[in-house]
Amino acid sequence: MARILITSALPYINGVKHLGNLAGSMLPADVYARFCRAAGHEVLFICATDEHGTPAELAAIEAGQTAAQYCDEQHDIQKRVGAGFSLSFDWFGRSSNRPNRELTQHFADVLEDNGLIDERTSKQVYSVDDKRFLPDRYVEGTCPNCGYEKARGDQCDNCGTLLDPIQLINPYSSVSGSRNVEIRDTRHLYLLQSKLQDDVRAFVDARAADWPNLTTSIAYKWLDEGLIDRSITRDLSWGVPVTRNGAPRPGFENKVFYVWFDAPVEYIGSTVEWAEANSGNWERWWRTDKGADDVTYVQFMGKDNVAFHTVSFPVTILGSKEPWKLVDKLKAFNWLNWYGGKFSTSQKRGVFMDQALELLPGDYWRWYLTANAPESSDTAFTWEAFKACINSDLNDVLGNFVNRVTKYAAAKFDGKVPEGGEPGGHEAWMANELATRLPQLIAHYEAMEFRKAAAETRAIWAAGNEYITKAAPWTAYKTSVDQAAVGIRTGLNLVALFGIIAQPIIPETAKKILDALGVPEGNRSLDLSKTGVAGYPALLDALPRGMVINVPPQLFTKIEDTQVAEWTAKFGGG
Ligand code: MF3
Ligand code: ZN
Repeated sequence: MARILITSALPYINGVKHLGNLAGSMLPADVYARFCRAAGHEVLFICATDEHGTPAELAAIEAGQTAAQYCDEQHDIQKRVGAGFSLSFDWFGRSSNRPNRELTQHFADVLEDNGLIDERTSKQVYSVDDKRFLPDRYVEGTCPNCGYEKARGDQCDNCGTLLDPIQLINPYSSVSGSRNVEIRDTRHLYLLQSKLQDDVRAFVDARAADWPNLTTSIAYKWLDEGLIDRSITRDLSWGVPVTRNGAPRPGFENKVFYVWFDAPVEYIGSTVEWAEANSGNWERWWRTDKGADDVTYVQFMGKDNVAFHTVSFPVTILGSKEPWKLVDKLKAFNWLNWYGGKFSTSQKRGVFMDQALELLPGDYWRWYLTANAPESSDTAFTWEAFKACINSDLNDVLGNFVNRVTKYAAAKFDGKVPEGGEPGGHEAWMANELATRLPQLIAHYEAMEFRKAAAETRAIWAAGNEYITKAAPWTAYKTSVDQAAVGIRTGLNLVALFGIIAQPIIPETAKKILDALGVPEGNRSLDLSKTGVAGYPALLDALPRGMVINVPPQLFTKIEDTQVAEWTAKFGGG
Protein backbone atom coordinates (compact mmCIF):
# COMPACT_ATOMS: atom_id res chain seq x y z
CA MET A 1 0.00 0.00 0.00
CA ALA A 2 1.35 3.38 -1.02
CA ARG A 3 0.40 6.83 0.18
CA ILE A 4 -0.69 9.05 -2.67
CA LEU A 5 -1.40 12.77 -2.51
CA ILE A 6 -3.46 13.93 -5.48
CA THR A 7 -4.28 17.52 -6.40
CA SER A 8 -6.28 18.97 -9.25
CA ALA A 9 -5.48 22.48 -10.51
CA LEU A 10 -7.69 24.80 -8.50
CA PRO A 11 -10.65 26.09 -10.53
CA TYR A 12 -10.96 29.87 -10.64
CA ILE A 13 -13.81 31.26 -8.62
CA ASN A 14 -15.18 33.39 -11.47
CA GLY A 15 -18.14 31.22 -12.42
CA VAL A 16 -19.00 27.57 -12.99
CA LYS A 17 -16.35 25.82 -15.08
CA HIS A 18 -16.96 24.43 -18.57
CA LEU A 19 -16.50 20.82 -19.65
CA GLY A 20 -12.99 21.60 -20.88
CA ASN A 21 -11.88 22.58 -17.38
CA LEU A 22 -13.49 19.43 -16.00
CA ALA A 23 -11.87 17.15 -18.58
CA GLY A 24 -8.39 18.62 -18.17
CA SER A 25 -7.87 18.44 -14.42
CA MET A 26 -10.67 17.73 -11.94
CA LEU A 27 -12.14 14.68 -13.69
CA PRO A 28 -8.91 12.79 -14.48
CA ALA A 29 -7.66 13.56 -10.97
CA ASP A 30 -10.85 12.01 -9.61
CA VAL A 31 -10.64 8.96 -11.86
CA TYR A 32 -7.07 8.43 -10.70
CA ALA A 33 -8.00 8.96 -7.03
CA ARG A 34 -10.80 6.41 -7.33
CA PHE A 35 -8.50 3.95 -9.06
CA CYS A 36 -5.84 4.33 -6.36
CA ARG A 37 -8.38 3.84 -3.58
CA ALA A 38 -9.85 0.77 -5.29
CA ALA A 39 -6.32 -0.58 -5.68
CA GLY A 40 -5.92 -0.37 -1.91
CA HIS A 41 -3.72 2.71 -1.55
CA GLU A 42 -4.08 5.44 1.05
CA VAL A 43 -5.19 8.49 -0.90
CA LEU A 44 -5.64 12.15 -0.03
CA PHE A 45 -7.38 14.03 -2.84
CA ILE A 46 -7.31 17.81 -2.50
CA CYS A 47 -8.85 20.66 -4.47
CA ALA A 48 -10.13 24.19 -3.74
CA THR A 49 -11.40 27.31 -5.41
CA ASP A 50 -8.74 29.79 -6.51
CA GLU A 51 -10.34 32.99 -5.25
CA HIS A 52 -7.93 35.89 -5.61
CA GLY A 53 -6.75 38.02 -8.48
CA THR A 54 -8.34 40.48 -10.84
CA PRO A 55 -10.73 37.98 -12.54
CA ALA A 56 -12.38 37.36 -9.16
CA GLU A 57 -12.62 41.08 -8.33
CA LEU A 58 -13.98 41.97 -11.74
CA ALA A 59 -16.55 39.17 -11.69
CA ALA A 60 -17.70 40.40 -8.26
CA ILE A 61 -18.08 43.94 -9.58
CA GLU A 62 -20.09 42.66 -12.52
CA ALA A 63 -22.32 40.69 -10.13
CA GLY A 64 -22.78 43.78 -7.95
CA GLN A 65 -21.29 42.05 -4.93
CA THR A 66 -18.27 42.44 -2.71
CA ALA A 67 -15.48 40.05 -3.58
CA ALA A 68 -16.03 38.21 -0.29
CA GLN A 69 -19.77 37.73 -0.92
CA TYR A 70 -19.18 36.71 -4.48
CA CYS A 71 -16.57 34.12 -3.50
CA ASP A 72 -18.77 32.68 -0.72
CA GLU A 73 -21.56 32.15 -3.20
CA GLN A 74 -19.48 30.84 -6.07
CA HIS A 75 -17.53 28.47 -3.86
CA ASP A 76 -20.77 26.82 -2.73
CA ILE A 77 -21.98 26.57 -6.30
CA GLN A 78 -18.76 25.00 -7.54
CA LYS A 79 -18.75 22.60 -4.63
CA ARG A 80 -22.30 21.49 -5.38
CA VAL A 81 -21.64 21.08 -9.09
CA GLY A 82 -18.48 19.08 -8.37
CA ALA A 83 -20.52 16.74 -6.18
CA GLY A 84 -22.97 16.37 -9.07
CA PHE A 85 -20.08 14.91 -11.09
CA SER A 86 -19.12 12.66 -8.16
CA LEU A 87 -15.77 14.39 -7.69
CA SER A 88 -14.55 12.65 -4.55
CA PHE A 89 -12.34 15.34 -3.06
CA ASP A 90 -11.29 14.62 0.50
CA TRP A 91 -11.42 18.39 0.82
CA PHE A 92 -12.54 21.22 -1.43
CA GLY A 93 -11.03 24.28 0.20
CA ARG A 94 -10.77 27.99 -0.47
CA SER A 95 -7.61 29.93 -1.18
CA SER A 96 -9.10 32.88 0.73
CA ASN A 97 -9.23 30.89 3.97
CA ARG A 98 -6.92 31.50 6.94
CA PRO A 99 -4.54 28.53 6.43
CA ASN A 100 -3.57 29.71 2.96
CA ARG A 101 -3.20 33.30 4.12
CA GLU A 102 -0.83 32.24 6.90
CA LEU A 103 1.14 29.84 4.71
CA THR A 104 1.50 32.40 1.92
CA GLN A 105 2.78 35.02 4.35
CA HIS A 106 5.11 32.43 5.85
CA PHE A 107 6.61 31.57 2.46
CA ALA A 108 7.15 35.26 1.70
CA ASP A 109 8.95 35.67 5.04
CA VAL A 110 11.31 32.75 4.62
CA LEU A 111 12.02 33.63 1.00
CA GLU A 112 12.98 37.12 2.12
CA ASP A 113 15.07 35.70 5.00
CA ASN A 114 16.88 33.62 2.37
CA GLY A 115 17.67 36.71 0.30
CA LEU A 116 15.24 35.80 -2.46
CA ILE A 117 12.87 38.77 -2.24
CA ASP A 118 13.64 42.39 -3.10
CA GLU A 119 11.51 45.51 -2.98
CA ARG A 120 11.65 47.33 -6.32
CA THR A 121 10.00 50.31 -7.93
CA SER A 122 8.14 49.62 -11.14
CA LYS A 123 5.87 51.52 -13.47
CA GLN A 124 2.14 50.84 -13.43
CA VAL A 125 -0.93 52.20 -15.13
CA TYR A 126 -2.83 54.49 -12.74
CA SER A 127 -6.43 55.64 -13.28
CA VAL A 128 -6.94 59.21 -12.14
CA ASP A 129 -10.75 58.90 -12.21
CA ASP A 130 -10.86 55.53 -10.41
CA LYS A 131 -8.14 56.75 -8.00
CA ARG A 132 -6.33 53.43 -8.21
CA PHE A 133 -3.65 51.48 -9.98
CA LEU A 134 -4.91 49.18 -12.72
CA PRO A 135 -3.09 45.86 -12.49
CA ASP A 136 -3.48 42.99 -14.95
CA ARG A 137 -7.03 42.80 -16.26
CA TYR A 138 -8.12 46.12 -14.81
CA VAL A 139 -6.65 47.76 -17.84
CA GLU A 140 -7.41 47.11 -21.49
CA GLY A 141 -6.12 48.67 -24.68
CA THR A 142 -4.60 48.00 -28.08
CA CYS A 143 -2.21 45.05 -28.34
CA PRO A 144 1.30 46.23 -29.33
CA ASN A 145 1.80 42.95 -31.12
CA CYS A 146 -1.31 42.47 -33.28
CA GLY A 147 -3.33 45.67 -32.95
CA TYR A 148 -6.36 44.00 -31.33
CA GLU A 149 -8.21 46.80 -29.53
CA LYS A 150 -9.50 44.89 -26.51
CA ALA A 151 -6.28 43.29 -25.28
CA ARG A 152 -6.14 42.81 -21.51
CA GLY A 153 -3.30 44.06 -19.36
CA ASP A 154 -1.87 40.65 -18.70
CA GLN A 155 -2.50 39.00 -22.07
CA CYS A 156 -3.87 39.60 -25.54
CA ASP A 157 -6.76 37.20 -26.16
CA ASN A 158 -6.37 37.65 -29.90
CA CYS A 159 -2.72 36.68 -30.41
CA GLY A 160 -1.94 35.12 -27.03
CA THR A 161 1.02 37.40 -26.24
CA LEU A 162 1.73 37.85 -22.53
CA LEU A 163 1.78 41.55 -21.77
CA ASP A 164 2.83 44.04 -19.14
CA PRO A 165 -0.05 46.53 -18.73
CA ILE A 166 2.22 49.47 -19.55
CA GLN A 167 2.81 48.04 -23.04
CA LEU A 168 -0.82 48.59 -24.08
CA ILE A 169 -1.46 51.35 -26.61
CA ASN A 170 -4.38 53.69 -25.77
CA PRO A 171 -5.02 52.07 -22.38
CA TYR A 172 -8.34 52.50 -20.56
CA SER A 173 -9.77 51.32 -17.26
CA SER A 174 -11.84 48.18 -17.61
CA VAL A 175 -13.87 49.17 -14.54
CA SER A 176 -14.92 52.68 -15.53
CA GLY A 177 -13.83 52.84 -19.15
CA SER A 178 -11.93 56.03 -18.32
CA ARG A 179 -9.00 56.88 -20.57
CA ASN A 180 -7.70 59.38 -18.05
CA VAL A 181 -4.77 57.17 -17.09
CA GLU A 182 -1.11 57.78 -16.50
CA ILE A 183 2.01 55.76 -15.69
CA ARG A 184 3.06 56.06 -12.06
CA ASP A 185 5.76 54.51 -9.91
CA THR A 186 4.72 51.82 -7.46
CA ARG A 187 6.68 49.56 -5.11
CA HIS A 188 6.43 45.79 -5.33
CA LEU A 189 8.07 42.67 -3.98
CA TYR A 190 10.11 40.75 -6.52
CA LEU A 191 10.87 37.07 -6.20
CA LEU A 192 14.44 36.53 -7.41
CA GLN A 193 13.75 33.45 -9.47
CA SER A 194 16.99 33.94 -11.39
CA LYS A 195 18.94 32.95 -8.30
CA LEU A 196 17.18 29.59 -8.18
CA GLN A 197 17.67 28.68 -11.83
CA ASP A 198 20.07 25.83 -11.04
CA ASP A 199 18.01 24.40 -8.20
CA VAL A 200 14.87 24.31 -10.31
CA ARG A 201 16.71 22.71 -13.21
CA ALA A 202 18.14 20.03 -10.92
CA PHE A 203 14.63 19.38 -9.60
CA VAL A 204 13.19 19.08 -13.12
CA ASP A 205 16.10 16.86 -14.26
CA ALA A 206 15.45 14.53 -11.35
CA ARG A 207 11.76 14.17 -12.26
CA ALA A 208 11.90 14.37 -16.06
CA ALA A 209 12.06 10.62 -16.66
CA ASP A 210 8.71 10.23 -14.88
CA TRP A 211 6.98 13.13 -16.59
CA PRO A 212 5.20 13.00 -19.93
CA ASN A 213 6.58 14.92 -22.88
CA LEU A 214 4.02 17.67 -22.66
CA THR A 215 5.18 18.43 -19.12
CA THR A 216 8.94 18.30 -19.63
CA SER A 217 8.90 20.25 -22.88
CA ILE A 218 7.12 23.16 -21.21
CA ALA A 219 9.36 23.05 -18.11
CA TYR A 220 12.57 23.05 -20.17
CA LYS A 221 11.32 25.76 -22.48
CA TRP A 222 10.97 28.06 -19.48
CA LEU A 223 14.28 27.02 -17.97
CA ASP A 224 16.10 27.45 -21.27
CA GLU A 225 14.68 30.93 -21.72
CA GLY A 226 16.09 31.73 -18.27
CA LEU A 227 14.06 32.45 -15.15
CA ILE A 228 13.35 36.11 -14.65
CA ASP A 229 12.63 37.85 -11.37
CA ARG A 230 8.90 38.49 -11.10
CA SER A 231 6.73 40.69 -8.97
CA ILE A 232 4.64 38.76 -6.47
CA THR A 233 2.48 41.64 -5.19
CA ARG A 234 -0.29 43.73 -6.74
CA ASP A 235 -2.09 47.01 -6.06
CA LEU A 236 -5.37 45.38 -5.09
CA SER A 237 -7.44 45.04 -1.95
CA TRP A 238 -8.79 41.49 -2.35
CA GLY A 239 -6.11 38.90 -1.66
CA VAL A 240 -3.56 37.84 0.91
CA PRO A 241 -2.31 40.99 2.71
CA VAL A 242 1.41 41.68 2.43
CA THR A 243 3.06 41.26 5.82
CA ARG A 244 6.56 40.96 7.20
CA ASN A 245 6.95 38.69 10.24
CA GLY A 246 3.29 38.99 11.12
CA ALA A 247 2.91 42.77 10.89
CA PRO A 248 1.61 44.80 7.94
CA ARG A 249 4.52 45.65 5.69
CA PRO A 250 5.09 49.44 5.63
CA GLY A 251 4.19 50.89 2.26
CA PHE A 252 2.20 47.76 1.31
CA GLU A 253 -0.98 48.48 3.24
CA ASN A 254 -3.01 48.67 0.02
CA LYS A 255 -1.38 45.73 -1.68
CA VAL A 256 -1.82 41.99 -1.70
CA PHE A 257 0.16 39.01 -2.96
CA TYR A 258 -0.25 38.12 -6.62
CA VAL A 259 -2.80 35.36 -7.17
CA TRP A 260 -0.26 33.03 -8.79
CA PHE A 261 1.91 33.34 -5.69
CA ASP A 262 -0.79 32.27 -3.25
CA ALA A 263 -2.87 29.86 -5.38
CA PRO A 264 -0.54 26.84 -5.44
CA VAL A 265 0.17 27.33 -1.74
CA GLU A 266 -3.52 26.51 -1.27
CA TYR A 267 -2.75 22.88 -2.12
CA ILE A 268 -1.13 22.89 1.31
CA GLY A 269 -3.68 25.30 2.80
CA SER A 270 -6.58 23.13 1.70
CA THR A 271 -4.89 20.12 3.29
CA VAL A 272 -4.64 22.10 6.54
CA GLU A 273 -8.37 22.90 6.23
CA TRP A 274 -9.02 19.17 5.78
CA ALA A 275 -6.90 18.33 8.82
CA GLU A 276 -8.62 20.91 11.00
CA ALA A 277 -12.06 19.61 10.04
CA ASN A 278 -11.20 15.92 10.40
CA SER A 279 -8.55 15.79 13.15
CA GLY A 280 -6.19 14.73 10.40
CA ASN A 281 -2.45 15.24 10.21
CA TRP A 282 -1.54 17.45 7.25
CA GLU A 283 2.19 17.43 7.92
CA ARG A 284 2.28 13.71 7.22
CA TRP A 285 1.36 14.62 3.63
CA TRP A 286 3.45 17.73 3.11
CA ARG A 287 6.53 17.75 5.36
CA THR A 288 9.23 15.32 4.41
CA ASP A 289 10.59 15.58 7.96
CA LYS A 290 7.20 14.54 9.34
CA GLY A 291 6.46 11.42 7.32
CA ALA A 292 5.76 12.78 3.84
CA ASP A 293 8.99 11.33 2.45
CA ASP A 294 7.08 8.18 1.50
CA VAL A 295 4.21 10.07 -0.16
CA THR A 296 3.89 10.08 -3.94
CA TYR A 297 2.52 13.48 -4.94
CA VAL A 298 0.60 13.57 -8.24
CA GLN A 299 -0.69 16.78 -9.83
CA PHE A 300 -3.28 17.16 -12.61
CA MET A 301 -3.70 20.25 -14.79
CA GLY A 302 -4.21 21.76 -18.23
CA LYS A 303 -1.13 22.64 -20.25
CA ASP A 304 -1.45 26.37 -19.54
CA ASN A 305 -0.72 25.61 -15.87
CA VAL A 306 2.42 23.53 -16.35
CA ALA A 307 4.98 26.33 -16.11
CA PHE A 308 3.50 27.50 -12.82
CA HIS A 309 3.77 24.00 -11.35
CA THR A 310 7.12 22.90 -12.74
CA VAL A 311 8.94 26.20 -12.28
CA SER A 312 7.15 28.96 -10.30
CA PHE A 313 5.76 26.93 -7.41
CA PRO A 314 8.97 24.89 -7.08
CA VAL A 315 10.82 28.22 -6.80
CA THR A 316 8.68 29.02 -3.76
CA ILE A 317 9.20 25.57 -2.24
CA LEU A 318 12.92 25.24 -3.00
CA GLY A 319 13.61 28.85 -2.06
CA SER A 320 12.09 28.29 1.38
CA LYS A 321 14.86 25.77 2.10
CA GLU A 322 12.29 23.97 4.24
CA PRO A 323 11.42 20.28 3.89
CA TRP A 324 8.20 20.60 1.88
CA LYS A 325 6.98 17.85 -0.40
CA LEU A 326 7.54 18.58 -4.10
CA VAL A 327 5.50 17.16 -6.95
CA ASP A 328 6.54 13.68 -8.14
CA LYS A 329 4.26 12.99 -11.10
CA LEU A 330 2.60 15.66 -13.17
CA LYS A 331 -0.13 14.80 -15.63
CA ALA A 332 -0.91 17.61 -18.06
CA PHE A 333 -3.72 17.79 -20.60
CA ASN A 334 -4.21 19.49 -23.93
CA TRP A 335 -7.39 21.37 -24.76
CA LEU A 336 -10.84 20.01 -25.11
CA ASN A 337 -12.27 22.20 -27.86
CA TRP A 338 -15.86 23.05 -28.61
CA TYR A 339 -16.30 21.89 -32.19
CA GLY A 340 -13.60 23.75 -34.13
CA GLY A 341 -13.13 26.57 -31.61
CA LYS A 342 -12.43 27.03 -27.95
CA PHE A 343 -14.66 26.72 -24.94
CA SER A 344 -14.78 30.21 -23.52
CA THR A 345 -15.86 31.34 -20.09
CA SER A 346 -15.90 35.02 -20.97
CA GLN A 347 -17.86 34.44 -24.18
CA LYS A 348 -20.01 31.70 -22.61
CA ARG A 349 -19.26 29.33 -25.47
CA GLY A 350 -19.71 25.60 -24.87
CA VAL A 351 -21.42 23.64 -22.12
CA PHE A 352 -20.81 24.49 -18.48
CA MET A 353 -20.79 21.95 -15.69
CA ASP A 354 -24.12 22.97 -14.16
CA GLN A 355 -25.83 22.94 -17.57
CA ALA A 356 -24.41 19.52 -18.41
CA LEU A 357 -25.96 18.04 -15.26
CA GLU A 358 -29.34 19.41 -16.27
CA LEU A 359 -29.12 17.36 -19.46
CA LEU A 360 -27.77 14.04 -18.21
CA PRO A 361 -26.29 12.45 -15.07
CA GLY A 362 -22.61 12.91 -14.28
CA ASP A 363 -21.57 9.39 -15.33
CA TYR A 364 -22.48 10.00 -18.99
CA TRP A 365 -20.12 12.98 -19.13
CA ARG A 366 -17.43 11.25 -17.10
CA TRP A 367 -17.40 8.35 -19.51
CA TYR A 368 -17.27 10.44 -22.66
CA LEU A 369 -14.70 12.90 -21.33
CA THR A 370 -12.43 10.12 -20.09
CA ALA A 371 -12.72 7.93 -23.18
CA ASN A 372 -11.95 11.05 -25.27
CA ALA A 373 -9.59 12.81 -22.91
CA PRO A 374 -7.36 15.43 -24.60
CA GLU A 375 -4.26 13.47 -23.63
CA SER A 376 -1.88 13.35 -26.57
CA SER A 377 -3.47 16.19 -28.53
CA ASP A 378 -6.37 18.63 -28.43
CA THR A 379 -9.71 16.93 -28.99
CA ALA A 380 -13.09 18.36 -29.95
CA PHE A 381 -16.39 17.89 -28.18
CA THR A 382 -19.30 17.38 -30.56
CA TRP A 383 -22.85 16.33 -29.78
CA GLU A 384 -22.69 13.74 -32.54
CA ALA A 385 -19.62 12.00 -31.12
CA PHE A 386 -21.04 12.24 -27.61
CA LYS A 387 -24.26 10.55 -28.69
CA ALA A 388 -22.46 7.79 -30.61
CA CYS A 389 -20.13 7.06 -27.69
CA ILE A 390 -22.85 6.94 -25.03
CA ASN A 391 -25.26 4.88 -27.10
CA SER A 392 -22.65 2.34 -28.05
CA ASP A 393 -20.40 1.99 -25.00
CA LEU A 394 -22.79 2.59 -22.14
CA ASN A 395 -26.11 1.43 -23.58
CA ASP A 396 -25.28 -1.32 -26.07
CA VAL A 397 -22.13 -2.77 -24.57
CA LEU A 398 -22.48 -2.34 -20.80
CA GLY A 399 -26.13 -1.59 -20.00
CA ASN A 400 -27.56 -4.20 -22.30
CA PHE A 401 -25.32 -6.97 -20.96
CA VAL A 402 -26.15 -6.21 -17.34
CA ASN A 403 -29.83 -6.04 -18.12
CA ARG A 404 -30.06 -9.24 -20.16
CA VAL A 405 -28.08 -11.41 -17.79
CA THR A 406 -29.66 -10.24 -14.54
CA LYS A 407 -33.19 -10.36 -15.96
CA TYR A 408 -32.67 -13.87 -17.24
CA ALA A 409 -31.36 -14.97 -13.84
CA ALA A 410 -34.45 -13.43 -12.27
CA ALA A 411 -36.82 -15.11 -14.73
CA LYS A 412 -35.31 -18.57 -15.00
CA PHE A 413 -33.14 -19.10 -11.93
CA ASP A 414 -35.29 -17.66 -9.14
CA GLY A 415 -33.17 -14.50 -9.01
CA LYS A 416 -30.25 -16.54 -7.70
CA VAL A 417 -26.71 -17.25 -8.85
CA PRO A 418 -27.30 -20.60 -10.60
CA GLU A 419 -25.71 -23.61 -8.97
CA GLY A 420 -25.58 -26.31 -11.64
CA GLY A 421 -23.09 -27.25 -14.35
CA GLU A 422 -19.35 -26.78 -14.62
CA PRO A 423 -17.28 -24.45 -16.85
CA GLY A 424 -16.03 -25.50 -20.27
CA GLY A 425 -14.33 -24.04 -23.32
CA HIS A 426 -16.21 -20.74 -23.53
CA GLU A 427 -15.48 -19.97 -19.90
CA ALA A 428 -11.80 -20.83 -20.42
CA TRP A 429 -11.74 -18.38 -23.34
CA MET A 430 -13.24 -15.66 -21.17
CA ALA A 431 -10.83 -16.32 -18.32
CA ASN A 432 -8.01 -16.06 -20.79
CA GLU A 433 -9.28 -12.71 -22.07
CA LEU A 434 -9.32 -11.42 -18.51
CA ALA A 435 -5.85 -12.75 -17.83
CA THR A 436 -4.45 -10.54 -20.59
CA ARG A 437 -6.81 -7.59 -20.36
CA LEU A 438 -7.06 -6.92 -16.64
CA PRO A 439 -3.31 -6.45 -16.11
CA GLN A 440 -3.29 -4.11 -19.12
CA LEU A 441 -6.13 -2.11 -17.65
CA ILE A 442 -4.28 -1.73 -14.36
CA ALA A 443 -1.09 -0.79 -16.18
CA HIS A 444 -2.91 1.97 -18.09
CA TYR A 445 -4.23 3.40 -14.85
CA GLU A 446 -0.85 3.24 -13.19
CA ALA A 447 0.62 5.06 -16.18
CA MET A 448 -2.24 7.59 -16.01
CA GLU A 449 -3.22 6.78 -19.61
CA PHE A 450 -6.91 7.43 -19.22
CA ARG A 451 -8.08 7.03 -22.80
CA LYS A 452 -6.40 3.65 -22.89
CA ALA A 453 -7.91 2.72 -19.53
CA ALA A 454 -11.39 3.57 -20.85
CA ALA A 455 -10.73 1.67 -24.09
CA GLU A 456 -9.57 -1.40 -22.17
CA THR A 457 -12.58 -1.20 -19.86
CA ARG A 458 -14.82 -1.18 -22.88
CA ALA A 459 -12.86 -4.03 -24.45
CA ILE A 460 -13.47 -6.16 -21.35
CA TRP A 461 -17.19 -5.35 -21.48
CA ALA A 462 -17.17 -6.24 -25.20
CA ALA A 463 -15.39 -9.54 -24.52
CA GLY A 464 -18.16 -10.36 -22.04
CA ASN A 465 -20.73 -9.73 -24.76
CA GLU A 466 -18.80 -12.01 -27.09
CA TYR A 467 -18.68 -14.68 -24.41
CA ILE A 468 -22.42 -14.58 -23.75
CA THR A 469 -23.14 -14.77 -27.48
CA LYS A 470 -21.00 -17.89 -27.72
CA ALA A 471 -22.32 -19.47 -24.55
CA ALA A 472 -25.93 -18.51 -25.51
CA PRO A 473 -27.53 -19.64 -22.24
CA TRP A 474 -31.00 -18.72 -23.53
CA THR A 475 -30.65 -21.29 -26.31
CA ALA A 476 -28.90 -23.84 -24.09
CA TYR A 477 -31.77 -23.68 -21.59
CA LYS A 478 -34.03 -25.57 -24.01
CA THR A 479 -31.78 -28.63 -23.99
CA SER A 480 -29.69 -28.38 -20.82
CA VAL A 481 -30.57 -26.26 -17.81
CA ASP A 482 -27.15 -26.98 -16.34
CA GLN A 483 -25.40 -25.63 -19.39
CA ALA A 484 -27.55 -22.50 -19.24
CA ALA A 485 -26.71 -22.26 -15.54
CA VAL A 486 -23.00 -22.07 -16.30
CA GLY A 487 -23.60 -19.29 -18.83
CA ILE A 488 -25.76 -17.23 -16.49
CA ARG A 489 -23.52 -17.81 -13.49
CA THR A 490 -20.50 -16.74 -15.50
CA GLY A 491 -22.52 -13.83 -16.89
CA LEU A 492 -23.46 -12.65 -13.39
CA ASN A 493 -19.85 -12.84 -12.30
CA LEU A 494 -18.96 -10.77 -15.34
CA VAL A 495 -21.61 -8.23 -14.37
CA ALA A 496 -19.92 -7.92 -10.96
CA LEU A 497 -16.52 -7.62 -12.55
CA PHE A 498 -17.80 -5.02 -15.03
CA GLY A 499 -19.03 -3.02 -12.05
CA ILE A 500 -15.71 -3.30 -10.27
CA ILE A 501 -13.67 -2.09 -13.25
CA ALA A 502 -16.21 0.69 -13.94
CA GLN A 503 -15.70 2.27 -10.50
CA PRO A 504 -13.02 4.85 -11.38
CA ILE A 505 -14.83 6.29 -14.41
CA ILE A 506 -18.57 5.81 -13.79
CA PRO A 507 -18.83 5.43 -10.01
CA GLU A 508 -22.59 5.89 -9.62
CA THR A 509 -23.38 3.25 -12.21
CA ALA A 510 -20.78 0.91 -10.75
CA LYS A 511 -22.38 1.27 -7.34
CA LYS A 512 -25.85 0.47 -8.71
CA ILE A 513 -24.51 -2.70 -10.31
CA LEU A 514 -22.52 -3.87 -7.31
CA ASP A 515 -25.26 -3.06 -4.83
CA ALA A 516 -27.83 -4.98 -6.88
CA LEU A 517 -25.56 -8.01 -6.97
CA GLY A 518 -24.82 -7.72 -3.28
CA VAL A 519 -21.05 -7.49 -3.75
CA PRO A 520 -19.75 -6.41 -0.32
CA GLU A 521 -17.77 -3.17 -0.12
CA GLY A 522 -14.68 -5.12 0.87
CA ASN A 523 -14.83 -7.20 -2.34
CA ARG A 524 -14.72 -4.33 -4.82
CA SER A 525 -10.95 -4.08 -4.95
CA LEU A 526 -8.95 -3.47 -8.12
CA ASP A 527 -5.83 -4.89 -6.52
CA LEU A 528 -4.75 -7.68 -8.84
CA SER A 529 -2.09 -8.96 -6.49
CA LYS A 530 -5.01 -10.23 -4.44
CA THR A 531 -6.44 -12.12 -7.39
CA GLY A 532 -3.34 -13.10 -9.30
CA VAL A 533 -3.37 -14.24 -12.91
CA ALA A 534 -3.99 -17.83 -11.84
CA GLY A 535 -7.11 -16.55 -10.12
CA TYR A 536 -8.93 -15.41 -13.26
CA PRO A 537 -11.00 -18.56 -13.73
CA ALA A 538 -12.01 -18.12 -10.08
CA LEU A 539 -13.17 -14.56 -10.82
CA LEU A 540 -15.84 -16.13 -13.01
CA ASP A 541 -17.14 -18.17 -10.10
CA ALA A 542 -16.64 -15.69 -7.27
CA LEU A 543 -20.27 -14.92 -6.37
CA PRO A 544 -21.55 -17.51 -3.90
CA ARG A 545 -23.67 -20.03 -5.81
CA GLY A 546 -27.28 -19.83 -4.74
CA MET A 547 -26.96 -16.21 -3.57
CA VAL A 548 -29.99 -14.01 -4.26
CA ILE A 549 -29.31 -11.11 -6.62
CA ASN A 550 -31.42 -8.17 -7.75
CA VAL A 551 -31.89 -6.75 -11.19
CA PRO A 552 -30.27 -3.29 -11.12
CA PRO A 553 -32.46 -0.32 -12.07
CA GLN A 554 -32.14 0.73 -15.72
CA LEU A 555 -28.59 2.05 -16.01
CA PHE A 556 -28.74 4.26 -19.10
CA THR A 557 -31.07 5.61 -21.74
CA LYS A 558 -30.07 6.24 -25.32
CA ILE A 559 -29.53 9.73 -26.61
CA GLU A 560 -32.00 10.48 -29.40
CA ASP A 561 -31.49 12.55 -32.54
CA THR A 562 -34.18 14.91 -31.27
CA GLN A 563 -32.09 15.62 -28.16
CA VAL A 564 -29.01 16.30 -30.26
CA ALA A 565 -31.04 18.75 -32.33
CA GLU A 566 -32.41 20.43 -29.23
CA TRP A 567 -29.00 20.74 -27.56
CA THR A 568 -27.37 21.99 -30.74
CA ALA A 569 -30.02 24.71 -30.98
CA LYS A 570 -29.52 25.64 -27.34
CA PHE A 571 -25.73 25.49 -27.02
CA GLY A 572 -24.57 25.85 -30.59
CA GLY A 573 -22.25 23.50 -32.43
CA GLY A 574 -22.54 21.93 -35.89
N1 MF3 B 1 -6.99 28.83 -11.26
C1 MF3 B 1 -5.92 28.45 -12.15
C2 MF3 B 1 -6.48 28.20 -13.53
O1 MF3 B 1 -7.65 27.96 -13.64
C3 MF3 B 1 -5.20 27.24 -11.66
C4 MF3 B 1 -4.56 27.42 -10.34
S1 MF3 B 1 -3.73 26.01 -9.90
C5 MF3 B 1 -2.82 26.48 -8.58
O2 MF3 B 1 -5.73 28.21 -14.49
F1 MF3 B 1 -1.80 25.77 -8.50
F2 MF3 B 1 -2.40 27.65 -8.72
F3 MF3 B 1 -3.53 26.43 -7.54
ZN1 ZN C 1 -2.43 40.71 -29.75
